[in-house]
Amino acid sequence: MEETKVLLKDSEIPRQWYNILADMPTPMAPPLHPATGKPVGPQDLAPIFPMALIEQEVSSERWIDIPEPILEKYLLWRPSPLCRARNFEKLLDAPVEIYYKNEGVSPPGSHKPNTAVAQAYYNKLAGTKKICTETGAGQWGSALSMACHMFGIECKVFMVRVSFEQKPYRRMMMATWGANCVPSPSTETAAGRKVLSDHPDSPGSLGIAISEAIEEAVTSKNAKYSLGSVLNHVCMHQTIIGLEAQKQLAKIGVYPDVVIGCAGGGSNFAGISLPFVRDKIHGKQIRIIATEPSSCPTLTRGPFAYDFGDIAQMTPLLAMYTLGHDFVPEAIHAGGLRYHGMSPIISHLCKEKLIEARAYNQIETFDVGVKWARTEGFIPAPETNHAIAAVVEEARRAKEEGKKKIILFNWSGHGLIDLPSYDAYLSGKLEAHELPEEEIKRALKAIEKFPKP
Ligand SMILES: Cc1ncc(COP(=O)(O)O)c(C=O)c1O
Repeated sequence: MEETKVLLKDSEIPRQWYNILADMPTPMAPPLHPATGKPVGPQDLAPIFPMALIEQEVSSERWIDIPEPILEKYLLWRPSPLCRARNFEKLLDAPVEIYYKNEGVSPPGSHKPNTAVAQAYYNKLAGTKKICTETGAGQWGSALSMACHMFGIECKVFMVRVSFEQKPYRRMMMATWGANCVPSPSTETAAGRKVLSDHPDSPGSLGIAISEAIEEAVTSKNAKYSLGSVLNHVCMHQTIIGLEAQKQLAKIGVYPDVVIGCAGGGSNFAGISLPFVRDKIHGKQIRIIATEPSSCPTLTRGPFAYDFGDIAQMTPLLAMYTLGHDFVPEAIHAGGLRYHGMSPIISHLCKEKLIEARAYNQIETFDVGVKWARTEGFIPAPETNHAIAAVVEEARRAKEEGKKKIILFNWSGHGLIDLPSYDAYLSGKLEAHELPEEEIKRALKAIEKFPKP
């Protein structure tokens, strides 16, 4: 019988996260304080994050120990399986081996708890009583709701309105884990009220929801804010995915030619890829591909520029690929990929050509998602379908070139709470939206005056 899964024992779980800042070949442009134009210091971030996370954000230590209480929680679902997609390989009929890390086995169904548990833990140590956050598709909000409950912290989630309406079961999951989830833009914050007065029918965006969550965090007692992607410490917590994958592949004597992940704010892509980027920096021949929606093509069509992470301009200015902080993407079903910016780490690696990026439209991604479900069984999250689209493209190229290729990708989550999006696809209601150039130009006007990285 051919092996399909490579499993690690609980005792083989990695005990450290990998911090790529220790190996960056060129320096990254620092986050800037918007008022002074100077790099932000730890004290600037202290109102919204606990100091332990701020230290991780700026740390240049290569390996950071994972505290025991976090490992204990990780063991509820980690190490996650590394699977070989033999049925999908047969369907593609190309000279490829396809391996995927199944992050859909976590309780909320995605990679998000890898950082949620860590962030809740460090907040607990710092005496935080309440954490506020935003969520797109609801994966992050539900992961943080679970993690906050594990450590006895209240959780408030601002969920992008379009996803709140498309995915009611996510709100119910959050409530089951004891959190309070409201649609964003909401009337509960000045940032939300401002958007609603200008655009009463706003579908919301991650940029708007971030503004609301930060505002509530800084105006509530003993409260902090938590971000589910983008930042350095979040990407670092996710490296457990790639580190496990390296151990699993080593067990079967395999090393990938290509590593693929979808990128919204960049965290699951960072998680699978950064340990391999390290190898690439040290001379390995490997291609690393981030994928995104063509209706929110941050890495493929945005400039590398300083911009805010949110619409109300509450975050520091980050050097990243961006479509402009007031860009509101089309209401596509991959809610977790509807973000105007991108992790500064991933942006820097893309600028330095250590990774590449591709964009796919919604129909292309559901085409391959349904094929995946009909061969491998598991129904992927709409975000994950963007990664599968690149797997299919790479397989097609391997066939054209007649060259064998080993592909590893991150199956970032399941789509069981996203079934209305499959329903829309199967009944022909989805559109292959491409973002018009004028809309990018319009949105970028808002950042013209910012310093250039
Ligand atoms: C299943 C899934 N994959 C990918 C993403 C994209 O986020 P990130 O780029 O931070 O991994 C999300 C975000 O909600 C998600 O839920």
